[in-house]
Amino acid sequence: MTSPILVTGGTGTLGGHVVPLLRAAGRDVRVLSRRARESADGVAYVTGDLLKGEGLEAALDGIETVLHLAGGPKGDDEATRNLVRAASRAGVRHLVYISVIGADTLPLGYFRAKLGAERAVADSGLPWTTLRAAQFHDLTLKVVRGMAKLPVVPAPGGLRWQPVDAREVAARLVELALGEPAGLVADLAGPKLYGLDELTRGYLRASGKRRLMMPVRIPGKAGRAYRAGENLSLEGAAVGERTWEDFLAERVG
Ligand SMILES: NC(=O)c1ccc[n+]([C@@H]2O[C@H](COP(=O)([O-])OP(=O)(O)OC[C@H]3O[C@@H](n4cnc5c(N)ncnc54)[C@H](OP(=O)(O)O)[C@@H]3O)[C@@H](O)[C@H]2O)c1
Repeated sequence: MTSPILVTGGTGTLGGHVVPLLRAAGRDVRVLSRRARESADGVAYVTGDLLKGEGLEAALDGIETVLHLAGGPKGDDEATRNLVRAASRAGVRHLVYISVIGADTLPLGYFRAKLGAERAVADSGLPWTTLRAAQFHDLTLKVVRGMAKLPVVPAPGGLRWQPVDAREVAARLVELALGEPAGLVADLAGPKLYGLDELTRGYLRASGKRRLMMPVRIPGKAGRAYRAGENLSLEGAAVGERTWEDFLAERVG
């Protein structure tokens, strides 16, 4: 009998796509969450907190493969170090991690923490696979929707994104989790490159809103890094198929 796959972050946006795909591949799933939930249909929930290091021993009991998707705005490095320590004790055979394009280049706290987490995975002594993905369409929607609440929408000059569909990231992660450990694999980005202003205009069109847009300049090191495209993966990345326009038509149109 094959052991269940532990999915951290199985209750999140990405995890919500990954869990059914693992089930469709015939695998039982264990999900680590900070809140208790009813287990059902091959998906068992265990309660724990990666940042506090709680519940990890029970979550990892009998587990060979871990898909580590849990994350937040802060502390992914610390949370991942806690997971790695517990996974090493449990004798995990494959640790799969989702990181972000720009983890190694962008001088911002979230990206630095993702790099710290990547390092914890790579230095764990466990067999590992890490995928860096671009921003998901869902996050892009949250950002532009938030900006469109303002009477005048800021349009940061030179800021480009390659948003990708979370379902395509989920499918790739499941393929990686069911395969052999592969180290750092090719990035996964969306099919098109957009200025943040274009993404905002697409959203405004799809939602029938009208707003004035005002060009702004992101200051400092972060602004320079974005304008230099250090958040992008322009060469050698795998690219998804679903565009921002496809996503908007489904979710907003
Ligand atoms: N969103 C993007 O555009 C994007 C792009 C590239 C990479 N990523 C990475 O992809 C991963 C998933 O992103 P997402 O957008 O799907 O996230 P999300 O919807 O915000 O979900 C976050 C998940 O992390 C879990 N979590 C957070 N803190 C935790 C803790 N201390 N202990 C245990 N679980 C914890 C939450 O579980 P509970 O609330 O149930 O505890 C939830 O399932 C993250 O690692 C993120 O950095 C995201």
